[in-house]
Amino acid sequence: MPDAEEIERLRVEFQAALAAAATDQALRVVRDRFLGRKGGVIASLMKAVASASPADRPLLGMLANQFKNEIEGALDARRASLESGRPVAGGLDVTLPGRQVPLGHLHPLTHVRHQVEAIFSRMGYEILEGPEIEDDYHNFEALNMPPEHPARDMQDTFFLGQPVPQRGLGTPGTRVSTRPAPPDRPATLLRTHTSAMQIRYMEAHEPPVRIVAIGKVFRRDNPDLTHTPMFHQFEGLLVDERVTFADLKGTLTAFVREIFAPDIKVMFRPSFFPYTEPSAEMFIGCVFCGGTGCPVCKRTGWLEILGSGMVHPSVLEAVGYDAERYTGFAFGTGIERVAMLKYGVDDIRLFYENDLRFLEQFSF
Ligand code: DAH
Repeated sequence: MPDAEEIERLRVEFQAALAAAATDQALRVVRDRFLGRKGGVIASLMKAVASASPADRPLLGMLANQFKNEIEGALDARRASLESGRPVAGGLDVTLPGRQVPLGHLHPLTHVRHQVEAIFSRMGYEILEGPEIEDDYHNFEALNMPPEHPARDMQDTFFLGQPVPQRGLGTPGTRVSTRPAPPDRPATLLRTHTSAMQIRYMEAHEPPVRIVAIGKVFRRDNPDLTHTPMFHQFEGLLVDERVTFADLKGTLTAFVREIFAPDIKVMFRPSFFPYTEPSAEMFIGCVFCGGTGCPVCKRTGWLEILGSGMVHPSVLEAVGYDAERYTGFAFGTGIERVAMLKYGVDDIRLFYENDLRFLEQFSF
């Protein structure tokens, strides 16, 4: 009497026979052996099922039918593959396309970062990173922002308290606070801008200086369309003899032409930063409306792309440079801002949500 095990054994037998059948003729032999009306494996199986006990019959009938369908399907598929002339080796169709392995790609922010690095490297700039935990001196004071300077407020700061022991962990941790450290303790903080790296680099090097510092910065902002408490900036600094505002304009124009479009329009507008004098904001012609005015550029036709200026003599003096002999320019902006304008992203939070439907649109 057949049982499920017997059917399984026949299945193995069939698969071996099918795998060995490499020609049309061999395939016909297999078909006759398994599906032949008289004495075929399936025919005998069906006969045996018919005489099985009423209790066993439904299950066995179902298994036998399933097996029969399987055999028919497999024989048809194999015949089609033989007819299409594809070589078959040991039961494997070696011409079938391989399985697609999904390939990841760069995050849009990483891609923009690489582009910024490549453009400034070609112009002879050294690319740097630097500490995300800074002290008040490098983040503010040496950049011409004394303790009560109002510009400190614009960069609502995460202060780091004194190291505190973390219960149970045994290692000291650091508590994030939103209040400055008391005056008798040196304040450490999460850097609010990459400008702090200007100071660190100049302290350690004599002019000429040509650097771009890139990395994470932190501000006490509630997330919305254009704010996240952590984002990325890049900061440029060039110091040498006889550096002028024309050098600043030429360099930054070359940069935006490369990263946006060769024919992009630019505009510089006076602004204020404590560490530059004069200071300027740079605008590009709106990449969304071509300058005719749209909601993104608030109908002005222009988009602000970065802050810049000639390095303030107080900053040069703070690092011990001779401010009579050397001049320089500096600039800084958000990687997110560049990426949003470049790719038409209207919500900065999308960069951090790891939603594949967003990320898959960028295949660098
Ligand atoms: N630090 C400014 C910010 O975080 C950007 C900036 C403006 C950097 C002007 C500069 C500069 O070097 O000259 O928004």
